[in-house]
Amino acid sequence: MVFPEYRSRRLRRNPQLRSLVRETRLSTEQFIYPLFVMPGKGIRQAIPSMPGVFRMSVDQLGAEAKELLGLGIQHVILFGLPAHKDAGGSGGHAKDGIIQTAIRELKNKAPQLMVSTDVCMCEYTDHGHCGILEDGQVNNDATLEILAKIALSHAQAGADMVAPSDMMDGRVAEIRAVLDENNFDMVPIMSYAVKYASAFYGPFRDAANCAPQEGDRQGYQMDPANSREALREATLDVDEGADILMVKPAVAYLDIIRSLRDEFDLPIAAYHVSGEYAMIKAAAANGWIDGDRVMHETLLSISRAGADIIITYGAKEMAKLLNG
Ligand code: PBG
Repeated sequence: MVFPEYRSRRLRRNPQLRSLVRETRLSTEQFIYPLFVMPGKGIRQAIPSMPGVFRMSVDQLGAEAKELLGLGIQHVILFGLPAHKDAGGSGGHAKDGIIQTAIRELKNKAPQLMVSTDVCMCEYTDHGHCGILEDGQVNNDATLEILAKIALSHAQAGADMVAPSDMMDGRVAEIRAVLDENNFDMVPIMSYAVKYASAFYGPFRDAANCAPQEGDRQGYQMDPANSREALREATLDVDEGADILMVKPAVAYLDIIRSLRDEFDLPIAAYHVSGEYAMIKAAAANGWIDGDRVMHETLLSISRAGADIIITYGAKEMAKLLNG
């Protein structure tokens, strides 16, 4: 049937018909909101390149958690700014480290809020790389043991899920083994399986103060030109025991999200990263775009591409919009 018997516009006639035939819906249940935690007391510090996002001290987390739960957001992922950094990233697995303290505070004040943690060394090393540095290169195998220690320390502090973002080979298997040996066999691993060496992480590196002092991350993060390699990376992580596969960044990599969705049956997460968020905020602040509508359309595109889970700095404002 073609025009004039068939008319596509019939189902676009009013909001009720449009919502009846809508194929993709956003829900606050699919959002994970990133939180930046720092030492000190009574601190809520705006991050200039990420309007609406704050670094906060541990004592602020209870109120933050209540606000999130009130909006229907049930998940956070934690990033830490430690008091001290060293070459071995020891602050990453310290019992009283910033993340471990933050997890205990959140689980104490708001047990219903699910706490995931970013497992990586870059926030804790003085050189800013995601592992142990040797002659200017990150030593993969020496790094694995420390990543597993970090993940275990998060689980011991009460984390509900761990998310390794370092891109070392073999880290999912190593973390799974150490968690299981220590009776954390029910803590899932959300693997940053497909993480590109992206310029879109710029604002995050300011926020978390974790830019490499020298060199870049191209020796471990993926080349933005590659898509077959994404499937290989994801396959390896599935074999090693990942529970959720993540693609990062999201918007510039919608094709990768779609191919993982088609290829795997695990839940797929996408990280709508700092630079992707900042661009919307900057254009909106200039009055060049309608920020709310562009944020909504952007998150919809991530969902439509096949992501079940969206990690986004826009979670709160989107929840407010969705809740009407
Ligand atoms: C840590 C990490 C980074 C991000 C998440 N975890 C930075 C990086 O890899 O350089 C970026 C998140 C964002 O840009 O929002 N390795």
